[in-house]
Amino acid sequence: MEELELIPGLSRSAFGGATTTATVTQLTHVSKVFLEPKRREVFTDVNMRVKRGEFVALAGPVGSGKTTLVNLLAGIERASSGSIQVLGKETTRLSGRELTTLRLASLGLVPQVQNLMQEFTVSQNVELPLFFLGEGERESRLSRVREVLVLMGINADAERKVADLSVGEKQLVSIARAMVKDPPLLVMDEPTESLDPLVSEVILEMLRGDNALRAKTLIIATHDKRIIELATRTVRMNAKIHA
Ligand SMILES: Nc1ncnc2c1ncn2[C@@H]1O[C@H](COP(=O)(O)OP(=O)(O)OP(=O)(O)O)[C@@H](O)[C@H]1O
Ligand SMILES: [Mg+2]
Repeated sequence: MEELELIPGLSRSAFGGATTTATVTQLTHVSKVFLEPKRREVFTDVNMRVKRGEFVALAGPVGSGKTTLVNLLAGIERASSGSIQVLGKETTRLSGRELTTLRLASLGLVPQVQNLMQEFTVSQNVELPLFFLGEGERESRLSRVREVLVLMGINADAERKVADLSVGEKQLVSIARAMVKDPPLLVMDEPTESLDPLVSEVILEMLRGDNALRAKTLIIATHDKRIIELATRTVRMNAKIHA
């Protein structure tokens, strides 16, 4: 597999080659056990390889471990054992800071529980990843932000404070923030949960287009039948997974 120099340094020119890597992420014998408040084994043997351009739906009942798997992929949680490769990096060996850098530079994450900056405007929230990446001048960053807000149909809300938005509107901002960097890998946790069917369909068509035409890799944890229909593959959560 091609080794990509993502770390250190936040320059995205360093990860341009990521899109030529066939395997975007690979989990081998991954287990996750929470010890607090009392021991709970979420999964014991997850094996999953996702190739560039795949659209994988992570499905399974409430509490089956979808969010836990998303958090492991994004480097927010640590695996209890096993190996997790993301864009050519063995993330289990990275420090917290290196994980943050990897996530910021190359992964678009939409968490299940939104973590937007409530006191910032929509535009400021979506600009943040570009700001942290140190990308371009303010003007070019704002023009990219505008582009994504238009795409998401929320440009009219650009100057509104996030705290004043509806839950669904916040969901759209969260997706916009993940997309603004145009990352090779998008990992989303129930992204359509708070959207109406029409808006949801528009967003899904856009994601599917990006996936099919530009080989963007999508991993989406969901209960939404429409996402499962559109996905090229569905992985059902079990204690042992071979996918
Ligand atoms: N930080 C934590 N500490 C302890 N237990 C946890 C923690 N996070 C998750 N769990 C437990 O792990 C199991 C899987 O949770 P997870 O959130 O991954 O499920 P899920 O499939 O995403 O569910 P949902 O469909 O409700 O989003 C649950 O039993 C949950 O209680
Ligand atoms: Mg969940």
